[in-house]
Amino acid sequence: MSQEVNVVTGAFGYTGRYITRRLLDLGRPVRTLISHSHLHNPFGSQVSVARLDFSSRERLQEGLCGATTLYNTYWVRFCRGEVTFELAVDNTRLLLEAALAAGVRRIVHISVTNPSHSSALPYFRGKAEVEDVIKRSGLSYAILRPALIFGQGDILINNIAWLLRRFPLFLLPGTGSYRLQPIFAPELADIAVRAADRQDDFVADALGPDVYTFEEMVRLTGQAVGSRCLILPAPRRLALFCCRLLGAVLKDVILTSDEIEGLSCELLVSDGAIEGVTRLSDWLRENGADLGVHYASELFRHFEEREG
Ligand SMILES: NC(=O)c1ccc[n+]([C@@H]2O[C@H](COP(=O)([O-])OP(=O)(O)OC[C@H]3O[C@@H](n4cnc5c(N)ncnc54)[C@H](OP(=O)(O)O)[C@@H]3O)[C@@H](O)[C@H]2O)c1
Repeated sequence: MSQEVNVVTGAFGYTGRYITRRLLDLGRPVRTLISHSHLHNPFGSQVSVARLDFSSRERLQEGLCGATTLYNTYWVRFCRGEVTFELAVDNTRLLLEAALAAGVRRIVHISVTNPSHSSALPYFRGKAEVEDVIKRSGLSYAILRPALIFGQGDILINNIAWLLRRFPLFLLPGTGSYRLQPIFAPELADIAVRAADRQDDFVADALGPDVYTFEEMVRLTGQAVGSRCLILPAPRRLALFCCRLLGAVLKDVILTSDEIEGLSCELLVSDGAIEGVTRLSDWLRENGADLGVHYASELFRHFEEREG
């Protein structure tokens, strides 16, 4: 008997990798749609691969053919060159049209806490637009809204650890008193797979058990990696200037002004139901030895083929 295929975007990326691992553990076949082919494939022949090629509707549809569920992680972190949030919304619309035409029944979409049409931040505005596109798509849907996602392979916490390991001083953008509610990546993946098995359309936050201030998160990360770095609040502009300076050296974008604004406005915390159980503080303690040993580059992961 042929089994139903699940399509996961970005199975060699971050969240998509955890969703794929969960599906494979349950014996469910996975096909992935990837934008960038230079990323390491940790699954070998267990996962079939097609291109997430937005320039060809036929190719997108082919990649989705025979699938019952689409797990969509596709989004961009910031605008760069031709890559914009408007483009990401349009691309997602194309993906959904292709999914409908290919006979996909349900989409499990990874959104973010607090998307809003009235947000000053294009990331959160674009997320709200995409949610609308999904609701109107004709597909059955589950929209999950995580805050920060932590686990092996993340960029933000890893790079905070990297900085704390190497420099004597870490500048918190602003007071550092703004809060976040991180969820453990494998638990988000489990929530996503359970959401696929439901029949109803729904939108829900996907939150971890604890709320931390940004400063607490940085300090816990520092303790986990044995850092003696001085952690100080700094004017946001100064922190951003340092990020840009270091970004120029590393040939990466460390943190954008919009991301600092999103953190400061507490957009990564919510009053929705808590589903995660793993505490970031415990995870940091257990994983400190590996954390921040290598720098994780957003530009290498997602812009390499254009710029490399
Ligand atoms: N990471 C977090 O802490 C966090 C927090 C809240 C919400 N989210 C949301 O969760 C979802 C997954 O996030 P993630 O961090 O796990 O992302 P990711 O794995 O790094 O990327 C997710 C997908 O987007 C594609 N993509 C990313 N940047 C791209 C670019 N510049 N051009 C073309 N394709 C690009 C990736 O394709 P390739 O892998 O093939 O390049 C992959 O299919 C996103 O919707 C994000 O907004 C993430």
